[in-house]
Amino acid sequence: MFLSMEHLNKTYSGGKVAVDDFNLEIEKGEFVCFIGTSGSGKTTTMRMINRMLQQTSGTIKLNGKDISDMDPVQLRRKIGYVIQNIGLMPHMTIRQNITIVPKLLKWSQAKMDQRAEEMIKLVELPTEFLDRYPSELSGGQQQRIGVVRALAADQDLILMDEPYGALDPITRESLQDLIKDLQTRLGKTVVFVTHDMDEALTLATKIVVMDGGKIMQVATPDEILRHPANEFVENLIGKDRLIQARPSITTVGQVMLKNVASITPDKLLREALKMMHDRRVDSLLVTDQGGNLKGYLDIEDIDYNFKTATSVGDVMHNDVFYVKSDSLIRDTVERILKRGFKNVPVVDAQHKLVGIVTRAALVDIVYDALWGEPDKTDEREDATAQGGDAK
Ligand SMILES: Nc1ncnc2c1ncn2[C@@H]1O[C@H](COP(=O)(O)OP(=O)(O)O)[C@@H](O)[C@H]1O
Ligand SMILES: [Mg+2]
Repeated sequence: MFLSMEHLNKTYSGGKVAVDDFNLEIEKGEFVCFIGTSGSGKTTTMRMINRMLQQTSGTIKLNGKDISDMDPVQLRRKIGYVIQNIGLMPHMTIRQNITIVPKLLKWSQAKMDQRAEEMIKLVELPTEFLDRYPSELSGGQQQRIGVVRALAADQDLILMDEPYGALDPITRESLQDLIKDLQTRLGKTVVFVTHDMDEALTLATKIVVMDGGKIMQVATPDEILRHPANEFVENLIGKDRLIQARPSITTVGQVMLKNVASITPDKLLREALKMMHDRRVDSLLVTDQGGNLKGYLDIEDIDYNFKTATSVGDVMHNDVFYVKSDSLIRDTVERILKRGFKNVPVVDAQHKLVGIVTRAALVDIVYDALWGEPDKTDEREDATAQGGDAK
């Protein structure tokens, strides 16, 4: 195990228990996000990892070695630490800014120069910028330099404590993309504190939810969304995200109806009308002979054109909205509901019509997401009963 924390406890001198029996294992290359309310012990835990704080009890091991047995200077060579919103130093050049930590670690100038060049190339800025001052760069360029500065000392583990907490959402998103990309490419392990669930869901391979110094849940973003451990985690995620997330296991193909009324363009309107009548529907999907979705036909289209047109192909609509059978409900439910269609045709990868999803089926899915699976029949009966008993 790359980093492990066992039964960590931190009680501050006034008696405040900030971290309470914290247990966590982190593998190399993971991106771990700590999330929780203010005061839940995130910063305290981070600071024990690089020995800025001494734990009251428990053990922290890096590469299997107890960090209490290590020289703190040696330890910090391996662990980087980035705190909230520290901008670049205005009186230092970009090169000096990038190599702040390497300099503290007493790298040679040649090695630092080489590293500074590598770093600035990573963020696709010209090497000439190395000898400029921060004020000569745009705000966005400065932010990107800030990101590579965290990686410059080539430490194996990087601790980041709400680094983007005070940035506007758009800047924050672009820096999230950047740090995630660099972290993966350079194979770094990151422990990242945030209070923003979107940030955690975007970045993390593993999310650690904390409350009152205790771990509430450790899980992947997907697991957290699908199975929040308790009400605290659920509230942190928020209902909006749960609606999106619970159906994530489901594809459109799993909820569609397969028995679809469809007709080919060469058929007469008379035949289309009979099919609608027989199947008790007011619209038909149109496919070619090979079953490929071509359009649709409404009862009104027949009504208006019955005398002038003869075939389905003469009056059908070609602009049909459809979804793919392998797309996730999560990604399509909103689009479908927003458009207000009663149902939407589903096609396979070859554009063959394979079914329809009905609005009613989607309402069921959203209902399950909101109310959870247990007791759903009871709740529904309750709802109906209440409606019926209202008077
Ligand atoms: N130096 C300190 N002395 C006493 N209590 C502290 C100290 N630092 C933090 N605390 C308390 O410990 C708890 C956890 O703090 P912290 O780790 O900073 O939480 P977070 O980073 O999750 O907001 C809080 O209740 C905080 O008030
Ligand atoms: Mg903090």
